[in-house]
Amino acid sequence: MRHIMVLNAKGGCGKSTLATNIASYFATEGASVALADYDPQRSSLDWLERRSEDRPEIVGVAAFEDGFRHVPRSADIVVVDAPARSHGKELTELVKHAETLIVPVLPSTIDMQATTTFIEELKNVGKVQRKQAKIGTVANRVRDNTLIWGDLDEYLTKVRVPYIAALREAQNYVRAYTRGLGIFELPEYLAWPDWEEWEPLTAWLRSKRSQP
Ligand SMILES: Nc1ncnc2c1ncn2[C@@H]1O[C@H](COP(=O)(O)OP(=O)(O)O)[C@@H](O)[C@H]1O
Ligand SMILES: [Mg+2]
Repeated sequence: MRHIMVLNAKGGCGKSTLATNIASYFATEGASVALADYDPQRSSLDWLERRSEDRPEIVGVAAFEDGFRHVPRSADIVVVDAPARSHGKELTELVKHAETLIVPVLPSTIDMQATTTFIEELKNVGKVQRKQAKIGTVANRVRDNTLIWGDLDEYLTKVRVPYIAALREAQNYVRAYTRGLGIFELPEYLAWPDWEEWEPLTAWLRSKRSQP
């Protein structure tokens, strides 16, 4: 059973958006997927409630209530949506639940600053130091030709954890969330630019590089 966690102490950076889309990606590929929501805001579980029964199944787990107890044993992939504001002991506890850690970052000075502190903290977690968990960053809500995007791109290259993908700001994410879908389940004529941007992320997730 593989555990992929999306986390950043900063709220609103796209944790739930990435978690739901990663779950949808593996489900459409035929894997048995559970989506564990550690955030009491329960955005991932709300998304699942919007999902229609004819879509590939994803099992929701209210991890903020009782951890992983209800994760089906048969799950191949558990995608974990982490809460904001996780630091210290709580962060160490959270990281125990995953071998792959994805940190989304927005092109904003406040977010980059907060993420620098968070990534330093994450790198100091024993499990990460022992390379039993792999970190990757993802730039999210990128708009081409903005100055701050150039800064984020440079920042993510420098922060010394693998920088995996850059995802544009797109209504497709809002549209997909509203319907309980991932962007992989939207029609190609609408979503192909997003599919292309996800390619490096899904390739990383499929490869050994994202696993201990
Ligand atoms: N790439 C994107 N394009 C457009 N909107 C996005 C994108 N990523 C996230 N959003 C929107 O930004 C808001 C915050 O994202 P969310 O995934 O809920 O963040 P978090 O879980 O980290 O708090 C939501 O309204 C979401 O729909
Ligand atoms: Mg969220």
